[in-house]
Amino acid sequence: MRVISKPGEMQSVALALRNEGKKIAVVPTMGYLHEGHTSLIKKGRELADIVVTTLFVNPTQFGPNEDYEKYPRDFARDFELAEDAGTDFLFNPANEEMYSNGYKSIINISGITDRFEGESRPGHFDGVATIVAKLFNITKPHYAIFGQKDYQQTLVIKQLVNDLFFDISVVISPTIRESDGLAKSSRNVYLSDEERKRAVIIYTALSDGIHEVQKGESRRKILNAVLHNRIRTIPEIRIDYASSANADTLDEPDVFLPGERVIFMIIIF
Ligand code: PAF
Repeated sequence: MRVISKPGEMQSVALALRNEGKKIAVVPTMGYLHEGHTSLIKKGRELADIVVTTLFVNPTQFGPNEDYEKYPRDFARDFELAEDAGTDFLFNPANEEMYSNGYKSIINISGITDRFEGESRPGHFDGVATIVAKLFNITKPHYAIFGQKDYQQTLVIKQLVNDLFFDISVVISPTIRESDGLAKSSRNVYLSDEERKRAVIIYTALSDGIHEVQKGESRRKILNAVLHNRIRTIPEIRIDYASSANADTLDEPDVFLPGERVIFMIIIF
């Protein structure tokens, strides 16, 4: 595995590979890799000749009171995990390389970002869309692999690719979970033992919601109440949102139509 930190060098390498007829898959990450990320790298290996994993804690997607400074970082560990999972190139740029002095361009995707994570974290998806567009232009991939865990992010990226005519197939890979159902996440290291135990309620509530839909419940208010009631069984937890929506548009109809795909999204503290 080769580590590249200069965008220009990564671009030249990617261009040369494309000229040789190689297919490239990119796996954008903020590092502190876990099995969720390595499953994306393995997916890239299946699809393409070359896998580029990117490692960049993107400052523009963190709000002023968020965890940018303390976001976990461990390059040596990431190097090993990325290499073992089958990465060919690890793109690991510095902040100044990605946001050169006086950068002026920010991508804003409207509509799909108005609710849920976009509402709770103003500007977050501008940062995500901007960095992902930069990473696409630098790594020149045929495939871009993202995890389903950050569901709204996957819709934002699909919209970005569609609107800006990126010639890239966006591939969404399933969430990888711990044995008790908690989704693997770099931020799980923040949890105390007690919080870690409580966090499983997210999976339990999601499972309840799915069960209700399978039983034929289609009223959004009832589905949301099912999630809220389950989470409220733990009084220490504060709910940011626990909601159902149309899985393609994130619209929130009173009643989901037969055959309409429903997504459940939960953020708790
Ligand atoms: O999902 C993430 O880790 C980040 O949002 C991404 C896509 C790497 C952009 O910084």
